[in-house]
Amino acid sequence: MQPHIVAYQTNFVTKLLSIMTYTEQVVHALRELGIEDQQQGGSVGNSFLGTGTPIETYSPADGKRIGKISTVTRQEYLQIVNKAQEAFLQWRKVPAPQRGEIIRQIGLELRKHKEALGTLVSYEMGKIYQEGLGEVQEMIDMADFAVGLSRQLYGLTIASERPDHRLMEQWHPLGPVGVITSFNFPVAVYAWNAFIAAVCGDTVVWKPSEKTPLSAVAVQKIMGRVLQRNGIHQGVFTLVSGGREVGQWIADDPRLPLVSATGSIRMGRSVGQRVAARLGRTILELGGNNAAIVTPHANQELALRAIVFGAVGTAGQRCTTTRRLILHESIYDEFIDKLIGVYRQLHVGHPLDSRTHIGPLIDEQAVQVYLNALETVRTQGGHFLLEGGRLEGMPSPYYVSPSIVEMSEQMPITCEETFAPLLYVLKYHDLEEAIALNNAVPQGLSSAIFSDNFRECEYFLSAEGSDCGIANVNAGTSGAEIGGAFGGEKDTGGGREAGSDSWKAYMRRQTNTINYGSSLPLAQGIKFEI
Ligand code: UN1
Repeated sequence: MQPHIVAYQTNFVTKLLSIMTYTEQVVHALRELGIEDQQQGGSVGNSFLGTGTPIETYSPADGKRIGKISTVTRQEYLQIVNKAQEAFLQWRKVPAPQRGEIIRQIGLELRKHKEALGTLVSYEMGKIYQEGLGEVQEMIDMADFAVGLSRQLYGLTIASERPDHRLMEQWHPLGPVGVITSFNFPVAVYAWNAFIAAVCGDTVVWKPSEKTPLSAVAVQKIMGRVLQRNGIHQGVFTLVSGGREVGQWIADDPRLPLVSATGSIRMGRSVGQRVAARLGRTILELGGNNAAIVTPHANQELALRAIVFGAVGTAGQRCTTTRRLILHESIYDEFIDKLIGVYRQLHVGHPLDSRTHIGPLIDEQAVQVYLNALETVRTQGGHFLLEGGRLEGMPSPYYVSPSIVEMSEQMPITCEETFAPLLYVLKYHDLEEAIALNNAVPQGLSSAIFSDNFRECEYFLSAEGSDCGIANVNAGTSGAEIGGAFGGEKDTGGGREAGSDSWKAYMRRQTNTINYGSSLPLAQGIKFEI
């Protein structure tokens, strides 16, 4: 197959006009969210502090400076965690449904500010506005879920082997929880953790990505106001902005019994090892390298839509992005033609432009990683079906066009997660082979099969099937709902967040044996006379 050249047209005048409108939209959003030009990045609820080295934030959309935010010093970090600890002693005594009421109010505030926060997320991170709104919606959904959960923190009762005995388990609050989030979901992943932790009676110490600090400040302001209005200790939600060293302070801090971290495998390995060294707990949600299998029995139109959204959505910067497409040989050429046809219609542009499908990458480093991967692909036998690269004449240098690369087999580069719109295509003969390819990477987050044949689908979902934490049928690898537990196996880190019973990781389980008789029978029938 020949490489296809795709022209991404841009009309300078309409672009300039719309940029004016975007600036106004952003200014309006910042004002509504109470974000000032000079912002402090440390916070205990509604009060802000921070005198550490400032971070200047620039929008990847147009390269313009959005604001300046101070980080926290070591001293300030220690103070903030003290407050989270102090708050925990009170918060753990608040009945769980009342804790849920606070989250319900936060959900209402998020509804009120959905457009403004969606705009800021889109402008600061570069994802398209629809996805920015989707991210805030994910927070709202998470709030609703957490409110319901606040009345369902159930333990089991267990049949005792002894007469007049009762055995049960209770779930108690755990302590202040460290939450480290990444730039690609600057607010939703925080909500997965913070809202669940809060209804569980934990307090939260949040270190957001230094690439998206203002979205975090905006969320913190919303939550701080709700705490204040309700007379709740401000230390329930705290913020510690900064670079890698702040992440290390969290990992090494024995006051934080649990650290939940989302980001790269390299970061997770370091955090995981440091927390393990102090025998703390972690929830790790790290890299993905997600595949979609399309069988001869697939509804191809449906598969196509799911795969394109999965591969280029968020400019390929989701941990659930579809990175590998495993196609049956009998439909290979036909499907590739259709795929390229759809890629030709994609609009790369300003994330606040409603026509845009693909916004910019987060920064220059991300562009370099993409360009380097394209070089490596060439040296490892990849054949470009569509060759992407940096786009000139855009509002910033971070816009790239997507790539599709045919690989005859998996190579070292296809086993890596390149956070960019780079899709590898592989051919298969039988389903065992397709599943083996799906599983033959170090990561194990998400996966999908497209087929209307129930044997194929069930096989994919069986113990011999996909080895990932998420396995979908006729639904793409990205865009999971919050109701299920989110996370993956192997190098993805094994953690589970958001829905289902993920809440259990945020609590401590206590087993209780109650003897309501007047003798003391011992377990296992042991006789011990005195
Ligand atoms: C991530 O990329 O870190 O399933 C999270 C999805 C989103 C969350 C992605 N709900 O794609």
